Amino acid sequence: MTDVAVVTGSNKGLGFALVKRLCEKFHGIVYLTSRDSKRGFEACKKLKEINLSPQFYELDITDDKSITKFITYIKNKHGKIDILINNAGVLFLKDAPEPKLFQAEQTLLVNFYSLVNFTEAMLPLIKDNGTILNISSSSGHLSRIPSNCIRQRISAPDLTLQNLKDLMQEYIECVKTNTENELWGSSPYVVSKVAVNAYTFMLNKALKSKGIRVNCVHPGYVISDMTHGAGSATPEEGAVVPIQLALDPENGGLYVWHDGTLVPWDGPDPRGYIDNIHC
Ligand SMILES: NC(=O)c1ccc[n+]([C@@H]2O[C@H](COP(=O)([O-])OP(=O)(O)OC[C@H]3O[C@@H](n4cnc5c(N)ncnc54)[C@H](OP(=O)(O)O)[C@@H]3O)[C@@H](O)[C@H]2O)c1
Repeated sequence: MTDVAVVTGSNKGLGFALVKRLCEKFHGIVYLTSRDSKRGFEACKKLKEINLSPQFYELDITDDKSITKFITYIKNKHGKIDILINNAGVLFLKDAPEPKLFQAEQTLLVNFYSLVNFTEAMLPLIKDNGTILNISSSSGHLSRIPSNCIRQRISAPDLTLQNLKDLMQEYIECVKTNTENELWGSSPYVVSKVAVNAYTFMLNKALKSKGIRVNCVHPGYVISDMTHGAGSATPEEGAVVPIQLALDPENGGLYVWHDGTLVPWDGPDPRGYIDNIHC
């Protein structure tokens, strides 16, 4: 059976660099996916020009029909896959004009609910001993949530996926009543990535018996459209540690920083001791 890897949201930015590096390092078929087929084909063309050969498939992770079509295609063509990298994501920068509730709902929809929905639908297609890598962020560190009570609930060892979804709904209700700041903080992106990390650890436990390792990674401050061109690392640099973790993780349930440091999710904020940023 051919080895297969899939990267969501990979027509540009970090996702594109992840596909590029997989094409170089992974002995199998690499799927570059994009919600827009023109952007996806253009991205594939760029890689073909440098003699790399990704396959393209259209995939919008917020669209159930698109997910079903993709899964049917992969199932019929390959049966199962080895590597899933959940990279697709959105961020509203601080000065974004959209209303706060819209920002919160959209951010959670793409970064959390759709990531979970797509991953759950893909689970029957992940080979035993395969890997799932969630592209998280420094924003996914538990310390970014101000309320001790919320931190405890979101990191509870017996947390279920339904509990986690309910917690996210609670957050949305707080945004509706303008009461989220003290409990959750002011950033929907932080809430979405903290939830992605909680999901990562939960899923890793559930898949342990199949040898599937589920990890999450902070790729660094990567220059991309998401940051409007700001950042301290190129997408190619940002892709190095994630691809190592997707190809050959020493374990599952890990939260790894862009320099390869293994970070305790519930420890001190690593931006202080790794990036020298004091918040
Ligand atoms: N850049 C950073 O400093 C940084 C730091 C930490 C973590 N990250 C994470 O790294 C990942 C990639 O970010 P980036 O910086 O490369 O951002 P980017 O350049 O904006 O790329 C985001 C990608 O996600 C895709 N996407 C958005 N919504 C989607 C959907 N519904 N279905 C499928 N794809 C969708 C975008 O597609 P379109 O082109 O169609 O919009 C694009 O391909 C994100 O998860 C982000 O949170 C980035």
